[in-house]
Amino acid sequence: MASLTVRQLDDRLKKQLRLRAAKHGRSVEDEVRNILRSAAADTEEFATLSPPAEHQERHTNQTHDAARLRVLLIIGGGIAAYKSLDLIRRLKERGAVVRAIMTAAAQEFVTPLSAGALTGGKVFTDLFDTESEFDVGHIRLARETDVIVVAPATADLMAKMAGGHADDLASTVLLATDKKILLAPAMNPRMWENVATRRNLAQLTADGVAIVGPNAGEMAERNEAGAGRMAEPLEIVAAIELLRGKTHALAGKRVIVTSGPTYEPIDPVRYIANRSSGKQGHAIAAAAAAAGAEVVLISGPVDVPDPIGTKVTKVETARDMLRAVEAAQPADVAIFTAAVADWRMAEPSSQKIKKSGKGAPELALVENPDILATVAHDKSLRPKLVIGFAAETEKVIENAKAKLAKKGCDWIIANDVSPASGVMGGDRNTIHIVTQRGVESLPPQSKDEVADAIITRIAAELGGAKR
Ligand code: C5P
Repeated sequence: MASLTVRQLDDRLKKQLRLRAAKHGRSVEDEVRNILRSAAADTEEFATLSPPAEHQERHTNQTHDAARLRVLLIIGGGIAAYKSLDLIRRLKERGAVVRAIMTAAAQEFVTPLSAGALTGGKVFTDLFDTESEFDVGHIRLARETDVIVVAPATADLMAKMAGGHADDLASTVLLATDKKILLAPAMNPRMWENVATRRNLAQLTADGVAIVGPNAGEMAERNEAGAGRMAEPLEIVAAIELLRGKTHALAGKRVIVTSGPTYEPIDPVRYIANRSSGKQGHAIAAAAAAAGAEVVLISGPVDVPDPIGTKVTKVETARDMLRAVEAAQPADVAIFTAAVADWRMAEPSSQKIKKSGKGAPELALVENPDILATVAHDKSLRPKLVIGFAAETEKVIENAKAKLAKKGCDWIIANDVSPASGVMGGDRNTIHIVTQRGVESLPPQSKDEVADAIITRIAAELGGAKR
C-alpha cells in the first residue's frame, strides 16, 4: 500500500487542509483521516439523494440524456473555486449534465482544464471566442440548461448581476437567461456585510434569484472569520433540488414539525400564551414538503394558513401537542419549532374566575411536559434527527449549547427573540445552528429563506454530509 504524508502535499492543499482542520477543531491528520473515511463511505452515504453515477452511466442513452438535469455552472474568482470542482463531481454522481463557464478571475484559482476534465466537455471562458460562439454561443448556453448555479458567487459577480451588466461571458449569460439562478456567495465577511453587497443581495432576492449560504467559519485570510464561506457542495446540490420545485432531497422521509404557541387554559375564557406566530414552523413544514418529505405539522393556535402538501393536526395545549407528536411517530426527522408554554394551571377553573374583592387570585402552576426532550430521550422511537429551537433574549449561543445537552437533541437552532430583534411575529429571523460539531451562524434572512436553509442542511445531513 502506498504511503503518503501530509508534508508531501502541495502548499495550497496543505493550506486548505489546515483551514478545514481548524474549522472542525481537529488536527490536520485527523482531518485527512476523516476525509478519507467519508470518501470511502461516499457511495453508500449519498445514494439516498439519487442513484449513484455508475448506475446512471450504465443506463445512459438518448432518452435518459433528455431526462437528466442540466446545470450550467458559473465559477467565479475566489479561493472557494476549488470546491466547485467537487460540486461538479457531486452533480455528475447524481447523473446531471454539467457545463461550466469560468470567469477570468476564476482561472487564477483553478484551471479550465481541471474543470473540463470533470464536466467531460469544453469549459467556456470568453464572450468573444469565435469558436465557442459558432459552436454553442452565449444564448444557447443561457437557455440550454435547467438551472444556472454561480459558485463561488463573488461580490463583483453579484454586483454585476444586480446592476444588469454584461461585459463578459458569465454576466452576459446571466442577463440572457430565463432559467432559475442559484448563487453560492463566497467572500470576505466584511465584503459580505458591506452595505453595497447587502443592497445587491436584496435586489437579487427580489429578482427571484435563489441563494445558498454563505456559511460562517474561518476565512482563507489569516485571523479572519465570520459569514462568507461558500456553502458546501452537498448543500448546493440540495439547494438545486429545492429550487427545482418538488424535489427529491427529502423524498421518502417522514418529517414532524411543531409550530406556533400553545394555549394553557386558566379558566373557560382566559389562557396562558406567548407571541409565537407559527410563521417559522409553518415555513419549515412547507420547505420540507417542497423537498418531497411526508410532513406532519402539529400546530398550536395560529393565523398563518396551512402549508400546501402537509398533514396538519391542530392542538391547543402542550399536553395535546405531545400526544399528537407521539401519534405521528415514527419519523426520520422531528423539528420542534413550537413555543410551548413551560407552565400550565395546576387546576384550570371550570368557571370564569371572578374578582373577589380580596385581591388577585393565586394561580398555581405546574410544569408542562417537555415534548422535545421526551422524544429525544425515547430510545425506541427517536427519529434519526431531532432538532430543537432555542428562543433566547440573552447569551443566545451559550444557552443553546446548554440546551443541546440537556434536551438530548442533535441540533439546536438558536435565535434572539428579544423585542429589538423583531423575530417574534416578524417575517425575518437570524439563526445559529448549534450541533456537537460547532456553531453555524446564518445571516439575517426571511423566515422562508431560513426554512430553506434548514431543510438544505437536513437533506445534506441525511445524505451523509459532514459539516
Ligand atoms: O426549554 P425551552 O422552552 O427553551 O426549549 C425550546 C425547545 O424545546 C423548542 O424546540 C421547543 O419547541 C421545545 N419545547 C418542547 N416542549 C416544552 C418546552 C419546549 O418541545 N414543554
